[in-house]
Amino acid sequence: MGLGYVNGKFVSLDELVIPIEERGHQFGDGVYEVIHCYNGKPFMLDEHIERLIRSCEAIKLPITQTFTDFQELILTGVEKAQLVFGKVYLQITRGIAPRNHPFPNVPVSITMTLNESEPTPVEIREQGVSAITHEDERWAKCYIKSLNLLPNILAKQVAQDQGSFEAILVRDGYITEGTSSNVYIVKNGEIITTPLSNHILAGITRIAVKQAAEELNIPFVEKNYSPEELLQADEVFMSNTSIEILPIVKVDSQKIGNGVPGEITNKLYSQYQVYKQNQA
Ligand code: PDD
Repeated sequence: MGLGYVNGKFVSLDELVIPIEERGHQFGDGVYEVIHCYNGKPFMLDEHIERLIRSCEAIKLPITQTFTDFQELILTGVEKAQLVFGKVYLQITRGIAPRNHPFPNVPVSITMTLNESEPTPVEIREQGVSAITHEDERWAKCYIKSLNLLPNILAKQVAQDQGSFEAILVRDGYITEGTSSNVYIVKNGEIITTPLSNHILAGITRIAVKQAAEELNIPFVEKNYSPEELLQADEVFMSNTSIEILPIVKVDSQKIGNGVPGEITNKLYSQYQVYKQNQA
């Protein structure tokens, strides 16, 4: 069924609650987080809240809520929605004011949705997915989890129209990330992924992938790599909160390795399941 939250009030998802002159709606002037719940518990909640606060600071959103306030809000939402396996979407915008570009002097708007979701089908995990490469047409501050996702959506749709799951973005001759994921290659036993910079989002799942690699004694190398290195990789995989760790077995219609999910990807995925179980 799902549950919604708007500025202090829990509401049903179909209730009409946002005035037209709301800056998220009119300008995309806000930030967001997506958090997954397993067994009724939000996974890596502290890391998500830390990133949310960083995003607010980066766009100068005048939040008055503390880390603990966000913790309480999300945990209350999860309890009220009786969310067992599903997603919390939390969005903060620069509030409600007549449309004008400069910052208004009004409180921020906080909204949240809580929805049950389906796990990624086992067949997809076992077979892996295909991806395309696509020019990274986004702005210069991709480290902010901003509401402005138009270039991401347009590139994702190009991928979907070609029967692919994800578009892997290329900026200045190097891979940055996916439209809604971080992307990794495996070559000669090493995991290689784009270093953190203003050109990619610091994924929360990426933190867990790095930790898993360290625990499994697999080298985790943060360096730029080219589309050619991507195509010649032994394994390719992507990560995000929703799909966790997912093998990519074809890029631009070309098979990666043997065209099946790789051993290191599978090991990282298993380790990620351990983290989920330990927390739940
Ligand atoms: N997106 N890079 C981009 C551009 C993303 O949008 C996301 C997540 C990630 C991975 O971040 P994390 O591991 O914290 O989920 C990387 C979410 C899931 C979304 O927009 O729905």
